[in-house]
Amino acid sequence: MIYFDNAATSWPKPEAVYKAMDHCMRYVGANPGRSGHKMSVEAERLVLNAREILAEIFAVEDSSRIILTFNATDSLNLGIKCMLRPGDHVITTCFEHNSVIRPLRHLEQKGIIELTVVNCTKEGILDPRDIEKAIRSNTRLVAVIHASNVIGTIMPAEEIGEIVSKYDGVYYLIDAAQTAGVFPIDVKKYKVDLLAFAGHKCLFGPQGTGGLYVGEGIEDIMPSLKEGGTGSLSEQEVHPDFLPDKYESGTKNTVGLAGLAAGVEFIMKTGIEKIHAHEQELTAQLIEGLQGIKGVTLYGPQDAKKQTSVISINVDGFRSNEVGYYLDQKHDVMTRVGLHCAPLAHKRMGSAPDGTARLSMGYFNTAQEVDAVCQAVSKLAKSGPQT
Ligand SMILES: Cc1ncc(COP(=O)(O)O)c(C=O)c1O
Repeated sequence: MIYFDNAATSWPKPEAVYKAMDHCMRYVGANPGRSGHKMSVEAERLVLNAREILAEIFAVEDSSRIILTFNATDSLNLGIKCMLRPGDHVITTCFEHNSVIRPLRHLEQKGIIELTVVNCTKEGILDPRDIEKAIRSNTRLVAVIHASNVIGTIMPAEEIGEIVSKYDGVYYLIDAAQTAGVFPIDVKKYKVDLLAFAGHKCLFGPQGTGGLYVGEGIEDIMPSLKEGGTGSLSEQEVHPDFLPDKYESGTKNTVGLAGLAAGVEFIMKTGIEKIHAHEQELTAQLIEGLQGIKGVTLYGPQDAKKQTSVISINVDGFRSNEVGYYLDQKHDVMTRVGLHCAPLAHKRMGSAPDGTARLSMGYFNTAQEVDAVCQAVSKLAKSGPQT
């Protein structure tokens, strides 16, 4: 069985993740931060531990700036919907995931915002000067994916941060769903105001975990998305306005957060550079292997230094779902096919409406697996119309 669907959710997880979740479920199953008894206090400690280790991995000094959510979509909806006011203008790119594009289009359709979608090359390469050219007097937010979930292209996050920081009243949101955990991210270096991430991808947490970093001062201008029980200031009928409670309410996914903390600890112990280097090697190997197969079209930069370990292909004579079905049924290779919640990216790449077969690797994949996948794709290509 070969799992090449890590861009959707990473699997397997480090052993410590399973252990931490099992321990939490069995022995620390109380509600965090609500009741004052020992088990509840211990559950709150697990939540705090997750918040602190996440702050560390993104070089955030104050861990209360890490808002714990249930996935990247949750984080993006919070950041986008709460930052924007009627009449605001937003700049984004044509390589965004639907969890950025859809909340923005929703606000646009309601007549609340104006939206500019900046073009990229078909390899997903963005010229940061195009972001600057699109800035208007009413621009409030620049929302950019850190790396494409379809072809892996890494965006010039630092350069965009430099540009945005020159303009008063313009804020910068990065969707780091595909990079958090595998790519060193320093919120100060990127000059980012809002950084959304998923816990269940490269950070090795379970599904149902994610977060949003909220930059200094943002809490003064960004209202909450939902209000409710926080376990703090319970005598008040209005929601607390301090971090992180302002943006967190309701019972947390404590078990998931215990797993996520163990995942991040694993990354810290292993070294993000080592993880990144391994994935880069696999990416280079897969690109080279696939480039040598007649009848296979590769999308994206085709350069391991310019992308994450996500590669999209098509095979002549087959629809993308047939490629995925063949790999799964005949070779036990798990991929994801279709549009990957990024229809604009596929339109730009010329692969809409059928999409592509996406092969996405993680730290636990091996060179042998890459070879096996190349052989499987080669077999399919040979059975196609080219030969
Ligand atoms: C770039 C990008 N943004 C956002 C998301 C949404 O993540 P989640 O499923 O955690 O909500 C994904 C998921 O694939 C993604 O790849």
